Parts: sequence; structure tokens; C-alpha cells
Amino acid sequence: MQEHLKHPIFNKISQVADELQVETYVIGGFVRDIILERPSKDIDIVCVGSGIELAKAIAKALDIKKVSVFKNFGTAMIIYQGWEIEFVGARKESYDRGSRNPLVENGTLEDDQNRRDFSINAMAICLNKDRFGELVDPFGGLKDCANKIIRTPLDPKITFSDDPLRMMRAIRFATQLNFEMEAKTYKALHSEKDRITIISQERITDELNKIILSKVPSIGFKHLFDTGLLNYFFPEMVKLYGVEIRNGLGHKDNFYHTLQVLDNICPNTDSLWLRWAAILHDIAKPPTKRFDPKHGWTFHGHEDRGARMVPEIFKKLKLPLDSKMKYVQKLVRLHLRPIALVKETVTDSAVRRLLLEAGEDVDDLMTLCSADITTKNEKKLKKYKKNFILVEEKIKEVEEKDHLRNWQPPISGEDIMKTFGIGPSKEVGQIKNAIKEAMLEGEIQNNESEAREFMHQLGITMGLNLV
Ligand code: CTP
Repeated sequence: MQEHLKHPIFNKISQVADELQVETYVIGGFVRDIILERPSKDIDIVCVGSGIELAKAIAKALDIKKVSVFKNFGTAMIIYQGWEIEFVGARKESYDRGSRNPLVENGTLEDDQNRRDFSINAMAICLNKDRFGELVDPFGGLKDCANKIIRTPLDPKITFSDDPLRMMRAIRFATQLNFEMEAKTYKALHSEKDRITIISQERITDELNKIILSKVPSIGFKHLFDTGLLNYFFPEMVKLYGVEIRNGLGHKDNFYHTLQVLDNICPNTDSLWLRWAAILHDIAKPPTKRFDPKHGWTFHGHEDRGARMVPEIFKKLKLPLDSKMKYVQKLVRLHLRPIALVKETVTDSAVRRLLLEAGEDVDDLMTLCSADITTKNEKKLKKYKKNFILVEEKIKEVEEKDHLRNWQPPISGEDIMKTFGIGPSKEVGQIKNAIKEAMLEGEIQNNESEAREFMHQLGITMGLNLV
């Protein structure tokens, strides 16, 4: 382990800890990440004594002016050369069932390790000089790292019930690290799931977003679904699950389809919001589902209904209600449009309309649509992919020709009123719209002179006089 503690900061902590004669360890995620070879700059230090005193002494030795002290939690934090180092005294905790706030008492290293969430997060490395680099691993964290197992140190029912956020963390780590859940730990996720209700939505969503930002987020969503946890905070997604069969006709399982779309999009984007758009693109399929004896299963209007569901879902999940929400809403509303083009013949005007509505998000929309092609039928897949490339090319071509990204009307309402000497009226709107339509249909080019000429002609046919 010593080779991982070469940075002078560990030496400094070691010296100061020895001077204060306090047993000191680096613990938790930092140790786990050394073993898993994931670089990390967050260091948690635990000492058998006062974490705050140790932090202050180390800050002094390193000439660091600022120590952030959280007296209520008995912790202190310093930042040094980009490292965030948190200090805490070893504790023994018992929990009050009604909340996440533990009743804290001072304890030994062993007490402290007992109260941690998973074996892989409970390992500590001693920093005192005579034991520098010694790994203290009472629950087989090292072995669990090698075997890729998530396991709680104590009976999982106790660990989860003490702090139910750990149920989300278990699933998050299984997803991020691609680890399996130990059977007893997994069972406790089922049995303790109801305890999630004492956790604030912000913290749940924080973990959910980490799952979504993982390489293969479907792993986490399947666990959330199978354990029943998902239903507590995201029932709309649970409703996507299942296949109904009528007259021998079934539809696809939209839960698994959504997960496939989400996984498909991940290699192409790290954007949390584009990934959210993938999660929500078909969210209104359950409420719009109909069986039509002639056409089979239909989900008419699910894109609009879905877009209307986005704000309430964001609000409930405590996701931001700003431009990010609007962006997701727009992608959900437009998600069928490129696919419709892919399936039909691609006309310039359809591409122009799409460009106008999608604006600067057209590339993201295309990324979403490409991920949405999940057909298992090889022939269809080939055809869709070929057409998809065609649509992409067409978009590029039309864009270059017409400069439609971030399109602004070439003639303003003000301009129209001045030209014909009229006040605000329905004619102004009609003319404005007609100019846009003419441009979209390719009757005129997207420039002011052609638009002006078109406006003059139209005004005359409407019985208006040029001023
Ligand atoms: N911990 C815990 N229970 C929690 C949160 C944290 O036992 N609900 C312990 C674990 O030992 C964990 C350490 O506190 O390793 C630090 O927690 P945190 O910084 O939240 O997570 P990391 O494990 O460091 O992982 P990440 O940075 O990926 O969140």
C-alpha cells in the first residue's frame, strides 16, 4: 500500500499524527479507489481522537490558512493542492429509527469501521510511522474488490435501516463499479425498501443521477426496479414495465426498451440531461396506450403528453426546473420527428421544419433518435440505419444552404406594420406565418430580400396598400 501514499501530504499527516500521538488512518472511498485503481482526490482521514484538532495541526504544519470546521458533525476539512481532505474522530454510532441523524459517541477504529456502509468502503490504511501503509480490513473488502461484490459489514438489515440512503448507494456502486450484490445484501434491499421514505428526495436523486452517469445505467435501474425501490420515487417509469397481449398481438416492453435506449446513448454523450431525455422519451406510453383492432397497439400523442409530464416529474424528483428541464421537454416532444423522417422519404421542407423547432439542440435530438433504434429485426435495422445517415446528411445540406439553426424571422412584425401602414392586427400574424411557411416549403430562400418581395405580393393579394 505504501507506494500509493507517496504524496508528501501523507507523510505530513503521519508526522503530525505522531507528534500528537494519535492513531490515524486514511479510510473509505479513497482506499477502495486505490485498490480499484480509480484516481481520487477526496481523502477521508479518521483518527482515534479529535479530528478537528488533527486538522488544525496539519493545516498549521502546511501553512494552510483555512480550516472548515463542522462542529456539529465533529469534522473538519482542508484543501491542499487540489486535494480535499476531511478529518473525523473515530465514532461509534447508533441510529434513531425516525431519521438519518445518528447519535454519536467516540469510539475505536473498529467501532468506526463497523458503522460504515460496505466492506469495500470500510478499509483503512494506517498512517502512523511505525505502521505506515498497513491495511486494516476486518470485513474482507480487499477480497470483495477482487470478486466484485457489494456486501455490508454488519447484518445488511441493520446497515440499511440505520441509514436507508445506503440502499441507493449499494445500487449506485454496483452500477458504477459493475459489481454484483451479495445475496443477503440484495435481499435486505427488498425487505428494508420502505425505509427509503425517510430520505430526502434531493439525496435520492443525487444517487440516481450518479447511476445515470455510469457507463451502463441499466444495471442500476434493473436493481431499482427488481427491489421495488424505484416505485417509491419514480412510479411513472415502473408503469413502462410489461407487455399486454390482445388478439395475439403484443407491444414491446417499454421499460426494457427505455433502458436499452439509455444504454445506447451513453457512449455518445456524458450529458446528464440528454440521458434524462432518453429515460423520459417514452414516459407517456402507458397513459396513451390503446388497442385498435385494425392497427394493433398505438401510443398516439405520447411525445406531447410525455413532454407535458416532464415538469411534474422534474419537480417531484427535485431536478432543476430551468432551461435543463425545457431542454429535456423539447427532446421528448420532438423525439419521433427524425425517426418519422427515417421511415419515410425525406423532403427538404420536413427537414427545415425540424431544424426550426429543434434549433441548437438538433444534434442532441439526432443522438437520441439514433439510440431509439432498437429493433431486433436485422432487415429493418439496416434500413433505419441507412435512412438515418441520409437524414443526417440532409440536415447538413439544408443547414448549409438555409442557415436555419437559431432561425429568426427575416421580417419583423414591426416591419410588416410599417410596410403596409397598419397597426397590430391578425393580418400581421398571418403575413409573418406565411413568410415562414413559404421559406419552410422552399418557395423562397431564407433571406430578407426574398422575404420582402414575398411580403409585398402577399399584402397586395390581401388588399393591403404599400406605404
Ligand atoms: N459512508 C457510509 N454511509 C453513507 C455514506 C458514506 O458508511 N451513507 C462512509 C463510507 O465508508 C464511504 C465514506 O463514508 O466510503 C465516504 O463517503 P462518500 O464520500 O459519500 O463516498 P465515497 O465512498 O468516498 O464514494 P464517492 O466519492 O464515489 O461518493
